[in-house]
Amino acid sequence: MRVLGIETSCDDTGVAIVDDRCTVVAEALHSQTAMHRRFGGVVPELASRDHIARLAPMIEACCAQAGMTLRDLDGVAWTQGPGLAGALLVGASVGSALALGLGLAGLGIHHLEGHLLSPLLDAQPPAFPFLALLCSGGHTQLVEVAGLGSYRLLGDTLDDAAGEAFDKTAKMMGLDYPGGPAIAQLALHGDAMRFTLPRPMLHSGDLDFSFSGLKTAVLTRLRKLGVDPNDAASMDALAPEDRRDLAACVQAAICEVLSAKALSAIRKTGHRRLVIAGGVSANLLLRRTLEDACTKAQVELFCPPPRLCTDNGAMIALAGVLRMRAGETPRGAALAAHSCQVRPRWPLESLRPPAAAQSASTGGSGS
Ligand code: KG4
Ligand code: ZN
Repeated sequence: MRVLGIETSCDDTGVAIVDDRCTVVAEALHSQTAMHRRFGGVVPELASRDHIARLAPMIEACCAQAGMTLRDLDGVAWTQGPGLAGALLVGASVGSALALGLGLAGLGIHHLEGHLLSPLLDAQPPAFPFLALLCSGGHTQLVEVAGLGSYRLLGDTLDDAAGEAFDKTAKMMGLDYPGGPAIAQLALHGDAMRFTLPRPMLHSGDLDFSFSGLKTAVLTRLRKLGVDPNDAASMDALAPEDRRDLAACVQAAICEVLSAKALSAIRKTGHRRLVIAGGVSANLLLRRTLEDACTKAQVELFCPPPRLCTDNGAMIALAGVLRMRAGETPRGAALAAHSCQVRPRWPLESLRPPAAAQSASTGGSGS
C-alpha cells in the first residue's frame, strides 16, 4: 500500500508518499516563511494561494522520486483540520479530487494525530500505549495514546501554546518569524541564568500549561533594557548580548515547564514511553532536557527527526496508511459526501479508532 499525504494546514506545503511498512518513499516540503516574514506572521490568503501554486508540481516530484505514477497509489490523505480554513480547503480539494478521479480511498486527517503518530515513521517506533507531549504553534497538550484514534487529553494550555510563546517573545525582541528557531539559534551563545523569568504553572499540581505570563515578563524585561516592542527604532537599545541572554532565558523557561509537566504526567499515569511531537519538539534543549529526565526515570523517549517535528506531508500520509490499513477506506460516493469538509477547529479527543470512525461516517457500510 502506498498513500500520498498532503499537508496544507498553515504555512508549509508538505507532500509525501508513505508505504505500509511506514517508510517514507518520497517527500517534498515548501516553507512559506520567507513570504510571510515581512508581515511578522502568517497571512492566510497568501498561504492558500501559495499552496495552490505549489501542490501539483510537488505531487509530481514525489511520484518521480518514488519511481511511480499517480495510478500506482492506493490512497490519498490530506489534513482536514485544525488550521486555517482557506489553506485546509486547498489540500482537501486537491486530495479528494485525486482520490475521486483515480477511484482511490481518500481520508481527511487530524493534523495533531499526524504529529503524534510521526515517531512511528522511525525504524524503532514506540509501541502503544504511550504518553505524548504535543507542542506546536497552536497547541500544547499532554495526551494519553491508547492506540490509533484513542486519545485522552490530560493537559492543555490555558492561553498561549509553547510555540506561540516562542513566536510572540521573538517578535517583541525584533526577531524574524518563526520565533522558535530564531530564539534557539541565539540562545546557543546566551546566558540562561542572567534574567529571572517565571516558570508558569510549574507547581500547579495539574497538567495544564500557561505561557502568557512569560510573554508579559519578557515585555517588562525589555522595557527595563530600554526597548519598546511597538517602536522599531528602540530595538537598537538591545545589545547583542542582551538579546542572546534573553533568548536563552526564554528558551530555558519554556523547556523547563514542558519537560517538568511531561515527567509529572509520566509519574501520574505510570506510562513507560514518552513521545514528543510538533514544531517545538525540534528544539535541542527540550530534547536534551527530556532525554536526561527520561533516562533517570527509566522511561523510553521517542522524538521524530527534526525535519518531521515541524509540519510535513509524511505524518499525514502515515496516519492515512494506518487508518486505511485498519479498514477506513471511504471512496466514491461515501468519499464525495464528505470530501471537501474542513475543520479549522477540531478537538483531538473527538477522534475515534478506525472501525468506529468508519461506521460513524458511512453508516457501517464499509468501503
Ligand atoms: O508543528 P508546527 O510546525 O506547526 C503547527 O502545527 O503549528 O509548529 C510550529 C511552531 C512555531 O511556533 C515555531 O516557532 C516552533 O514550532 N518551532 C520551534 C523550533 N522549530 C519550530 N520552537 C522552538 N525551537 C525550535 N527549534
Ligand atoms: Zn503542526
